[in-house]
Amino acid sequence: HQALDGIMTPRSIAVIGASSTPGKIGYTVLSNLINQGYKGKIFPINPGAEEILGLKAYPSVLDVPEDIDAAVITIPAKIVIPAVEECGKKGVKGLVIITSGFSEVGKRELEEELVQKAHEYNMRILGPNIVGVLANSSGMNASFAPYLPLPGKASLVSQSGALLIAIDASTYVRGVGFDKLISIGNMSDLDFADIIEWLNDDPNTTAITLYIEGFKNGRRFMDVCRRTNKPIIALKAGVSSHGAAAAASHTGSLAGAAKVYGAAFQQAGVVQASDLDNLFDRTLALSLQPPMKGDNLLIITNGGGVGVLATDAAEKYGVPLKFAPAEVQEELKKHMPEFGSAKNPVDLTGMAGTEWYHNAIKFAYAHPWVDGLVVLYCETAVTDPMEIAQGIKSAIDNSGANGKPVTVSFVGGERSDKAMRWLVDHGIPAYGAPDRAVNAIAALNEYARNKTLLAEPITLC
Ligand code: ACO
Repeated sequence: HQALDGIMTPRSIAVIGASSTPGKIGYTVLSNLINQGYKGKIFPINPGAEEILGLKAYPSVLDVPEDIDAAVITIPAKIVIPAVEECGKKGVKGLVIITSGFSEVGKRELEEELVQKAHEYNMRILGPNIVGVLANSSGMNASFAPYLPLPGKASLVSQSGALLIAIDASTYVRGVGFDKLISIGNMSDLDFADIIEWLNDDPNTTAITLYIEGFKNGRRFMDVCRRTNKPIIALKAGVSSHGAAAAASHTGSLAGAAKVYGAAFQQAGVVQASDLDNLFDRTLALSLQPPMKGDNLLIITNGGGVGVLATDAAEKYGVPLKFAPAEVQEELKKHMPEFGSAKNPVDLTGMAGTEWYHNAIKFAYAHPWVDGLVVLYCETAVTDPMEIAQGIKSAIDNSGANGKPVTVSFVGGERSDKAMRWLVDHGIPAYGAPDRAVNAIAALNEYARNKTLLAEPITLC
């Protein structure tokens, strides 16, 4: 892991191509490192400057008097290899090569030469053609993305740089955070498998989120995923024939048929996302909640409509509802009016206040029949969404049980949104629509099922 440690958790970083000119990538990377909380040493490298952004600049890494773990490269493609050679001589561990203009534009030989040069000196390469690496846990923004993402427990690995920057910004509006954002671009050297292996041992990452266009070594990817003991969620792009061609010209990798990937992901224990929104929804659940180890899903609601929507979704996403056993129904009836329903979905009715929610959830969560719980709430005139959210959280905490997943959906206005943010901050994934909460818990069920399948022999298609 040493070279990768040098890239992901460096104690010192050189920016090769650091610039005093605002708008240049070498300016943005240096300024991001200085101003966003990175605690290690920073060395600007530029043959024409004495000082950049208040730091002493050096003509070459060879002139830096201290050790350098990572070098972020922001100089044009044609002069990257000599700079890499100097990094090798200096003993730099890892290279973050932002520069474009290699295999993605057909310059495969240049890229091969680059990798060869790095390997001569035992260095590893992230990139080229990337945005960089960002990590909340170390306040490190070694990229030209404008800011660190909303803090969270998952880490994202993206083959698309522009998408990574867009996701970075959208974490704040979606309320789904990440610890690390890692751009891997052309994957000339380090690829998904290497990063996943590293993240599996990263104490700041609980789930691994992937945006994939194609693989260089699919077999190794599968092997590594199978050995990983953190959930992996993947969005695979380029599964249509036109999409595959677009991916080939974007990062130069081979994409392919949806079904082949679907089967391969399942056999590798990887949970798939259907689109970008779904990637966020599933990431939130898999990063915050334990796997759903059985198939008994219970839904508790104060509104019949959202209960029916969630029931349809449960069937659609592979966790169809069953009626709860009689003894469970008996107990639940104590927490609802006469005209409520204790079957599944459990309808506490619009009269349900915090106490009914609390008591029903506390009982259901602890009951051995229940493998996973979805709690739904329709905003009403007589209840306060924040109180309901707090009631849900304390019911789970007071249930005496653990190790089962819960997801929540509040349908309502700003007060509901605020309450859902509170739930997420307290480890409970919450969504604005019932089918999304069900889809999220289905991901936790899929993860548990895929992991069980791993015990069985592989059949490759
Ligand atoms: N060592 C250190 N610094 C050097 C060296 C050297 N050997 N040679 C030149 N420099 C300096 C330059 O003088 C310049 O500094 P200055 O502003 O003080 O003059 C600085 O390094 C940068 O060099 P420039 O020639 O000005 O290069 P420029 O900044 O225009 O472009 C870049 C370099 C950004 C790497 C460009 O070639 C490139 O690849 N751009 C695309 C990058 C990209 O988008 N990557 C992500 C793709 S993913 C996505 O879609 C977002």
